[in-house]
Amino acid sequence: MKIIRSVNNLKQILKFFRDNNYIISLVPTMGNIHDGHLELVKKAKLMNTICIVSIFINPTQFDQSCDFNNYPRSIKLDCKKLKSYNVDIVFIPSVLTMYPSGTNNYTCMYVPSLSEILEGSKRLNHYKGVTTIVSKLFNLIQPNLAFFGEKDFQQLVIIKHMVYDMHYNIKIISVPIIRETSGLAYSSRNTLLDKDDYKIAHKFYLTLKSMADKLKHNIHCVVDLIKITTHQLEKIGFIVDSLYVLDYKYLTCITNNSTNIIILSTVWLGKIRLIDNIKVKIFK
Ligand code: PAJ
Repeated sequence: MKIIRSVNNLKQILKFFRDNNYIISLVPTMGNIHDGHLELVKKAKLMNTICIVSIFINPTQFDQSCDFNNYPRSIKLDCKKLKSYNVDIVFIPSVLTMYPSGTNNYTCMYVPSLSEILEGSKRLNHYKGVTTIVSKLFNLIQPNLAFFGEKDFQQLVIIKHMVYDMHYNIKIISVPIIRETSGLAYSSRNTLLDKDDYKIAHKFYLTLKSMADKLKHNIHCVVDLIKITTHQLEKIGFIVDSLYVLDYKYLTCITNNSTNIIILSTVWLGKIRLIDNIKVKIFK
């Protein structure tokens, strides 16, 4: 496994792979690698590709500098895990490499509308930062395939939209959420939960799951279910930041005829914000 930090070295090695007709896949991450990330890697390796994992904690997608500063960093352990999964290249650029003109007034990529709703309405500029960094990685690496998790569902929808609109010749492969046995979705932020909060964190998923089970038999009770689920979550100790039920494909409002929907939610547990979602197929 090669660890590469500079664009020149990256371009050199990519040229070799491209000249030899290898399929190149990219797994963009912000590090603190866990089983969720590793599932994306596993999928990329299963497809017989040269797998590049990028590790870059992207400053422009954080609203607050303290959140950026507190983001867990574990490069050495990350590389060890990625090596054991036979990753070919780990790309670990500096902020200056990715933002040569700095992170103020940076040249950006922006997907309107989709970046402004849901998470985007609470975290101003978050998705602008995400699409900018992902497009920079796409431009530098020009992968054939890029892997993203359904855990960050809105991010996935936005990136697919960017690829479509910008004519990137890259196939986006989405990977279902990987969970701990308790049901808690793996997330780098889980390591920041204190001990007592960690013990109840899985109840976020269990409560959403019970909402999903009720919803699939009766889509008409959605308004009541949102109220009941919010109450249940708050009783456990979560502060509900958002709880939406939307059309799965376009993230638009559901109708009586909707069949593929998604529950999307974010909650605060102590100082940590957890995000999760569940797809629901409605029985008609
Ligand atoms: P990060 O949070 O490190 O996640 C990297 C990728 O792993 C994303 O596609 C995310 O959806 C996926 N992922 C995280 N947890 C997962 C889980 N439990 N199951 C399945 N997939 C999971 O998302 C980002 O970084 C950044 O915004 C990035 C795209 C790298 C741009 O900076």
